[in-house]
Amino acid sequence: MNMMNEKELLEWYIMSGVDAFVSDTSGCVQENRGILNEEVVYSDIQRPAMTDLAQMSVKACKNAYETAAGASTLEELRKVVENFEGCSLKMTANKTVFGGGNPLSKILIVGEAPGADEDRIGEPFVGRSGHLLDKMLAAIGLNRQTVYITNVLPWRPPGNRTPTNAEVAVCLPFLKRQIELISPKIILVLGSSAANSLLDNEEPISRLRGKWFQYCVCAEQTIDLMASFHPAYLLRNPAQKSKVWIDLLRLLKKMENN
Ligand code: URA
Repeated sequence: MNMMNEKELLEWYIMSGVDAFVSDTSGCVQENRGILNEEVVYSDIQRPAMTDLAQMSVKACKNAYETAAGASTLEELRKVVENFEGCSLKMTANKTVFGGGNPLSKILIVGEAPGADEDRIGEPFVGRSGHLLDKMLAAIGLNRQTVYITNVLPWRPPGNRTPTNAEVAVCLPFLKRQIELISPKIILVLGSSAANSLLDNEEPISRLRGKWFQYCVCAEQTIDLMASFHPAYLLRNPAQKSKVWIDLLRLLKKMENN
């Protein structure tokens, strides 16, 4: 358990069916410290306990899983996401950015989160990163009418900060349901947030990019997934564009074989 991060712990609770916690204000708790056999007595104040915030996060994740599962079309899912109140990012965002493009496409592109422009307009990748993404797509004959584009988070993190594990955990059920409903043949994830969220690992994007993985929808369905650098990173590091070009050519080859 000590090895789990916050997101994994929350997911584990949900998958285990945990939906309630015993009060954290009862008397002393004794913990036996394994090999040292050193007994530690915690007072009420010191006792490690599930905080109110963590309880709320678990509840919100469970609620996200259940409401997402109840949506049987993309439009129903959009309404579910728009009405969801379990993620505090929604309070600071102007718009819910659900996704856009061709929902019948066999290619799904997943970014991290809306930025300022997306938050103003309500569509994914419409700012500087979006313009570069359009050029990347055009280089292999794709455009907004031939792909579907979404993000891990439908709400902009204030100041474009990196999303927390808890924010990703609570929004992930929506992305996973979106993937089920679109049922693409190929997923291209842009940047480490999207790659780590869907591959459920913490590998750096430099190690993940350009390789093919299987995204597991369920025991019977997997989808080819490739990660590449995020366009925002490319705007800051144009020298890395040549690597993305290689990734795009691999994507094109996969499309031709599909
Ligand atoms: N960056 C993203 O990851 N997604 C967007 O929609 C815009 C910028």
